[in-house]
Amino acid sequence: MKRLAIVLAAGQGKRMKSKLYKVLHPVCGKPMVGHVTDIVKEAACERTVVIVGHGAEAVQAYLGDGAEYVLQAQQLGTGHAVRQAEQLLGQEEGTTIVVCGDTPLVTAETIEAMLELHASSGAAATVLTASFDNPTGYGRVIRGADGAVQRIVEQKDCSPEEAAVKEINTGTYCFDNQKLFAALAQVTSNNAQGEFYLTDVVGIFREAGEVVQGYCTSDLAEAIGVNDRVALAEAERLMRERLNRHHLLGGVTIIDPASTYIEAGVEIGSDTVLYPGTILRAGTKIGEDCVIGPQADIAGSSIGNGVTVKYSTVADSVIGDESAVGPYANLRPGSKLGRGCKIGDFVELKNATLDDGSKVSHLSYIGDAEVGKEVNIGCGAITVNYDGYNKFKTVVGDHAFVGSNVNLIAPITVGEGAYIVAGSTVTHDVPAGDLSIARERQVNKPGYAEKIRNRAKAKKENSRKE
Ligand code: UD1
Ligand code: CA
Repeated sequence: MKRLAIVLAAGQGKRMKSKLYKVLHPVCGKPMVGHVTDIVKEAACERTVVIVGHGAEAVQAYLGDGAEYVLQAQQLGTGHAVRQAEQLLGQEEGTTIVVCGDTPLVTAETIEAMLELHASSGAAATVLTASFDNPTGYGRVIRGADGAVQRIVEQKDCSPEEAAVKEINTGTYCFDNQKLFAALAQVTSNNAQGEFYLTDVVGIFREAGEVVQGYCTSDLAEAIGVNDRVALAEAERLMRERLNRHHLLGGVTIIDPASTYIEAGVEIGSDTVLYPGTILRAGTKIGEDCVIGPQADIAGSSIGNGVTVKYSTVADSVIGDESAVGPYANLRPGSKLGRGCKIGDFVELKNATLDDGSKVSHLSYIGDAEVGKEVNIGCGAITVNYDGYNKFKTVVGDHAFVGSNVNLIAPITVGEGAYIVAGSTVTHDVPAGDLSIARERQVNKPGYAEKIRNRAKAKKENSRKE
């Protein structure tokens, strides 16, 4: 049986009170609609149609070519939204999964189980349901004496008895494709919200003598529909727990899962230890046997094996095996460390490559630089890469030694094995193997300290008399 999918993503999400369209709000670093389309992909649907409206361009730009799109120019309800897909899917025969773009925690396994019940029972529709102690805000699932689903009633249309029902509609369904579009043609907007409800097709099917099943998930997280920021925070927490659990089971030690934030899609090797306050953002890959944190914020970066990163931020960078970063380092985009490098406290790197075994241990800024192997950059040494208009490059050869408080005025090349003495402001290239000194020669004036103190004292007394 052909599988098709429709993702509803046209709503504005007024209750979010946001400039960002609802389905683009991230949950653990990934927009909600991205979670949903990824799940649908896992369910191996041959075609996925996303209904877009508010923020259509932004949603399309984010999802890209992975789906087909239909514009729902006016948001007249979920039934109206699904109907927009008729021009694309109306001729298809098969099973159509419908998922809302604001239910990021639904899983592919549950959709699979729902599809199984759907197929085995010959139902026209199967609804994914859950049982909530507090069902407020959700559509209620009304079952008949035989246990089959009779109707779904929206909160605003509920009688007191219906409102007391705890089983809710999660907003995920599967349908016989042909029957779905036939029933949608009969849906009216005669209800409390004046909308065309997708949920009304259930009643329409029942009247036509069709079977409607309800598949009840025991994982309540799957049922969360994010309509406001309270639910967004709840979804974030539940997704975080789920992701942490995935990494724990994969062999990662997380000292305190409650204070460790791992976004969707992050990969971590086994026997890596994460200390509290660690934030691993989207696009990050971490190897085995690393020690990350406390307080490490790593985004879009690739980290090798046996690496230590503590009290530091790392963005769009690469760190080679056995390197150590921090405490208090800032690796800005384009930093690349080889094997066994050391970046110490209050060091900032930007667009800088360090080859194997190089060290920048304290209080440095290295930007737009290419540093060779086994180079030592002393405390407080910096690259002077910017004249207010242009950026210039610094090249430091293998085994060079850059003394403390050296200014490397770029563009500049320091040759292999060169040695720059502390406090130098170097404006010209240093050939390989040379010693470079660029500072005033020291002068000591014997006993002069006393003289200078007396002069200062006299000056102070004079100014008091005046
Ligand atoms: C819907 C269900 C409700 C269910 C709940 C689960 C209906 C009538 N109600 O209610 O039974 O318990 O989800 O979370 O279906 N959308 C469009 N176009 C529209 C309207 C909505 O694309 O014209 C999209 C929204 O962007 C959203 C999704 O459909 O992603 C659900 O819409 P929403 O308004 O959040 O429905 P609920 O009131 O939550
Ligand atoms: Ca919703």
